Amino acid sequence: MAVKIVKAVRAMHRKADQMRRAGQRIALVPTMGDLHEGHLSLVRRARKVADRVVVSIFVNPLQFGPAEDFAAYPRDLARDLERLDPCGVHLAYLPEVKEIYPEDFATTVGVARLTEGLCGAHRPGHFEGVTTVVAKLFAAVKPHVAVFGQKDAQQTLVIQKMVRDLNLDVEILMAPTVREADGLAMSSRNAYLSPEERREAPSLYRALMLGKNMIAQGERRAPRVVAAMRDVIAPLCHAKIDYIEAVDAENLTPVAVLKNSVLLAVAVRFGKARLIDNAPVRVK
Ligand code: PAJ
Repeated sequence: MAVKIVKAVRAMHRKADQMRRAGQRIALVPTMGDLHEGHLSLVRRARKVADRVVVSIFVNPLQFGPAEDFAAYPRDLARDLERLDPCGVHLAYLPEVKEIYPEDFATTVGVARLTEGLCGAHRPGHFEGVTTVVAKLFAAVKPHVAVFGQKDAQQTLVIQKMVRDLNLDVEILMAPTVREADGLAMSSRNAYLSPEERREAPSLYRALMLGKNMIAQGERRAPRVVAAMRDVIAPLCHAKIDYIEAVDAENLTPVAVLKNSVLLAVAVRFGKARLIDNAPVRVK
């Protein structure tokens, strides 16, 4: 079954209304394309919880900073549609920039506090771009449920908060991070890595696992854990650390003493690629 393509917002509304009238539960998986196994795992999760799966592909200019990789971001629609074909996706929603952001566009959606730390501190305006486009995708697709990745834990929490604060009737699910065999989290940005950088990139995962093991063995001092994680990454030739942090898993503020639910989170630049990863840890 070839995936049906919808581009116009009005056409998407009509499709969504049809599905809802037929009593079908709609799941949305928002993406920026260049689909990999991480994205496809979200699609499979969506299939389990809904009758109809919509995947949106839209490289959202509003969430890229002026010095970031919007122009270079990998785009290969034909390959994306081929990948979606065997996954039981019913519809690909491919809106156009000029319809999502017409010239007189003046409304954005922003979530305070949760967006201040971690990636929010390093990418001004990024999360406002994300919440604005996701709100627009929800308005167009009218999903009952939407699936996001643990890989972008802060993004998923920010979207959950937006949904609660705006009383949106969408259930948000978080699916686990899919990794390469050596632990590197799958990401469209891994394609930017040179062979040398690619060899160093699994250090993010190794640092997270080291931190997790220290906590499992009883370490409760966050600065000790963060310092040990830093020692894994800092010596590498190509790595430039944006942040390495231990934060409260719910409000994302840094913690000194590790307790309850903690998120170990890292962001490291390797040349043109800015890689992020995280590990949720339940502290006993
Ligand atoms: P994108 O980076 O394409 O990611 C789309 C979804 O796939 C996100 O929910 C992300 O967390 C998830 N994902 C990415 N890599 C993953 C991996 N290795 N394992 C599991 N899930 C993974 O995130 C965005 O696009 C955009 O910000 C978007 C939400 C579409 C708004 O523009």
